[in-house]
Amino acid sequence: MQAVIVAGGLGTRLRPLTFNRPKALVPLLNRPQILHILDRLPKSVDEVFVAVNYLYERVRDALHDAPLGRTVEVVEEPNPLGTAGAVKRLGDRLEGTFAVYNGDVIDSLSFSDFLAFHRKRRALATVALHEVEDPSPFGVVGMDGTRITRFVEKPAAQEAPSHLVNAGRYLFEPEVLDEIPADVPVSMEREVFPKLATKGLHGYPFTGYWSDAGTLSGYLASMSILLANGGAGVGPRAKVGRAKVDGAVLIPDDCVASGRIGPNVVMGPRCRVDDGTVSNSTMLEGAAIEAGGVVRGSVIGEDSTVGPGAVVEDSIVGDGARVGSGRRVIRERMA
Ligand code: GDD
Ligand code: MG
Repeated sequence: MQAVIVAGGLGTRLRPLTFNRPKALVPLLNRPQILHILDRLPKSVDEVFVAVNYLYERVRDALHDAPLGRTVEVVEEPNPLGTAGAVKRLGDRLEGTFAVYNGDVIDSLSFSDFLAFHRKRRALATVALHEVEDPSPFGVVGMDGTRITRFVEKPAAQEAPSHLVNAGRYLFEPEVLDEIPADVPVSMEREVFPKLATKGLHGYPFTGYWSDAGTLSGYLASMSILLANGGAGVGPRAKVGRAKVDGAVLIPDDCVASGRIGPNVVMGPRCRVDDGTVSNSTMLEGAAIEAGGVVRGSVIGEDSTVGPGAVVEDSIVGDGARVGSGRRVIRERMA
């Protein structure tokens, strides 16, 4: 069976990290995040196309070197064609029922249950759904039984038809391709799904975990989920003897830490915390927190340093940056 992963977005909500890396390669637990998605696809999905526009070569090279155990082809999309246009472009290469996955979502969806549901309903298309408290940043559905009767992308809070949102995982019959115009940008969510809602679009709600890692809060939620589901660990040669480590953390061998680490902290290779405090955050490769530095709810970019006594909260610090001694980088929370 085949799958298309749409991974061509600019990743604007993860800037500055995505100024110099595609969103698919933003490290999550020290691996390009798209690898977590490929991991969860069963072996029966033996051919995967990854449709990329922005920084295509980077994704191609990264996946070329990864041991993936199946055919994965990174396909260049010269101009962004939108989430449906990207799939339409691959139409000639797709046969039979196929899957389409957003490239930035971490989940515990059972592919086999999803497929069994799709087949049982004889659906034209099935969208996996997850219940969330605030549906407005997502695609939201109205249902009649298992049929999706309305699909509204990013509705205003009071206009959301339910709390069930598009999880970014679809199963399609080939006829879905007939509903997508060729060679022009087309949005699956704004153009195709509303049209399919009258033609056999089904919804498959699933429980378990789900998170869109394409925003800072979603990224950190995805990090915590993966830490809680087998991703935590401290390398036997990591120098953490002088640190107070609390809750789920991932600290590889070549890290040195003292101070307070955790809960929910991922340190990349060669990271250093020197008597600092870090919680609910990821430090990318080579990042450092110096004496008395505090990092909460943030991502610290590659080879960046949080200086002595500096505080970083709810923020993304880009690569190669230095937060000067005593500085405060705190994103204002929206009310
Ligand atoms: N190839 C390609 N071309 N991929 C694209 C393009 C494009 O033009 N535009 C976006 N993508 C990819 C992104 O890289 C991402 O993997 C996926 O399509 C979804 O785009 P996002 O930009 O992350 O969308 P979103 O998070 O705001 O909303 C989407 O995901 C939600 C679930 O996480 C929608 O599908 C919502 O309906 C859904 O609820
Ligand atoms: Mg997204």
